Amino acid sequence: MVWATITNFSIVVSLSFSFLILYFFLALGSTTTYVQQQLTPDFYAASCPQLESIVAEQVYQASLTDPRMPASLLRLHFHDCFVNGCDGSVLLSGNEQLAAANLNSLRGFDVIANIKAAVEEACPSTVSCADILALTARDSVVLASRPSYNPGWTVVFGRRDSLTASEAAANADLPGAFYNVAQLNDNFAKVGLSPKDVVVLSGAHTFGRVHCSVLDGSLYPTVDPLLNTAYASQLESSCPNGGDTATVNNLDPVTPNTFDNQYYRNLKVGKGTLYSDRILFNTTGESQDLVNQFAPYFASDQFFYEFGVSMVKMGNISPLTGSEGEIRKICSQPN
Ligand code: HEM
Ligand SMILES: *[C@@H]1O[C@H](CO)[C@@H](O)[C@H](O)[C@H]1NC(C)=O
Repeated sequence: MVWATITNFSIVVSLSFSFLILYFFLALGSTTTYVQQQLTPDFYAASCPQLESIVAEQVYQASLTDPRMPASLLRLHFHDCFVNGCDGSVLLSGNEQLAAANLNSLRGFDVIANIKAAVEEACPSTVSCADILALTARDSVVLASRPSYNPGWTVVFGRRDSLTASEAAANADLPGAFYNVAQLNDNFAKVGLSPKDVVVLSGAHTFGRVHCSVLDGSLYPTVDPLLNTAYASQLESSCPNGGDTATVNNLDPVTPNTFDNQYYRNLKVGKGTLYSDRILFNTTGESQDLVNQFAPYFASDQFFYEFGVSMVKMGNISPLTGSEGEIRKICSQPN
C-alpha cells in the first residue's frame, strides 16, 4: 500500500514534469513566432568587441570640451525611442529633427557621427546607430555622475536602423513640457512605460539645459504658483519677457552637470524647472510618493538602480531586429 502510493506519486511527478517541458517548448515556440527577437548584452561580443571601449572614450572626449554633452546625448536616445521605437530615426537629417520638441533643441549629432565613424573603422557595417545611441546614453550617465557613484546598467543590443523618420510622429509622440501627470502617464503608456517610469526617467532632468522659449510659459503673464518665488525671480532675470528665447538655463539649478538625485530635492522646494517636473510632486499618489522616496541623499543608489531598470525598458521600445531595417553606414542618412 505504501509502495503503491509512492509509485503513483512518482508517476504524477514525472507526468507533471513532462507537461512542464511541453509547456516550456510551447512557450519557446510562441516567443519566436509572435514576439520580436530579444535584445542581448553580448550581441556584438564577437563581431565588435571594441565597441564599448570606443564609445566610452568618445563620450569622455566630447564631455571634456562640453560638459553639457552627456545630457544632450541621453536625450537623443529618449527622443529616438519614443518615436517609432529605438530605431535611430531621430538621427536621419530632416524629418523628426524638424519636430517642435527637436528643432533648435536636440544636439550631439556631430558627436554621434564621430562615434559612428570610429565604430565603422573598427567594425564596418556591424553596429546600428540605434544601438550606438543606447550605449552612448548609458556612458553619458556614468560619466556625469560623481566619482565612486555608480549609476550604470547593462545595455542590451541588437536594434537595427530605420529607413525613414517622421516629423508628424515626433510631434504626436513626444511629451510636452506643460503636460500634467495624467497626460505624462498616458504618453508613456503608449510606449509601454508606467507612471513610475515617468517619475524615474524625469530624473534625467538632473542635468542639461532648457531654453527660455520653454520657460516663458511658466513666467508670463503670471508666475506658475508651483514655482519657488526666489527661483522664479532667478528665471525671470535670465528670461526677461520679450527677451532672447534662445538663452538656456540649467534644468538642475543646484548641480547642473551632475547626474545625481538632486532633481528630486529640487522638486520638493518648487525648483523643478519644467512644469512637467513640478507637477510630479504636486500630484498626490504614486508620483509624489516616488519623489519623496528618491529625494534623500541616502536614496541616490536606489534612484540609480531604478533609472537603469527604466532605461532598459525604454531601450526596448519596439526595436527593429533580425532582418528588419538596416545597419546604416552613416547615421544621418539611409544607406
Ligand atoms: C516626462 C516627460 C518629459 C518632458 C515633458 C521633457 C521635456 C524637456 C524639455 C522641454 C527640455 C528642454 C528642451 C529645450 O529647451 O531645448 C528637456 C531637456 C532634457 N530632457 Fe527631457 N522631457 C521629458 C522626459 C525626459 C526623459 C525621459 C529623458 C531621458 C531619459 C529626458 C532627458 C532630458 C535631458 C538630458 C535634457 C537636457 C538636454 C540638453 O541639455 O541638451 N527628458 N526635456
Ligand atoms: C499643488 O499646488 C497648489 C498651488 O500651489 C496647492 O494649492 C496644492 O495644495 C498643491 N497640491 C499638492 C498635492 O501638493
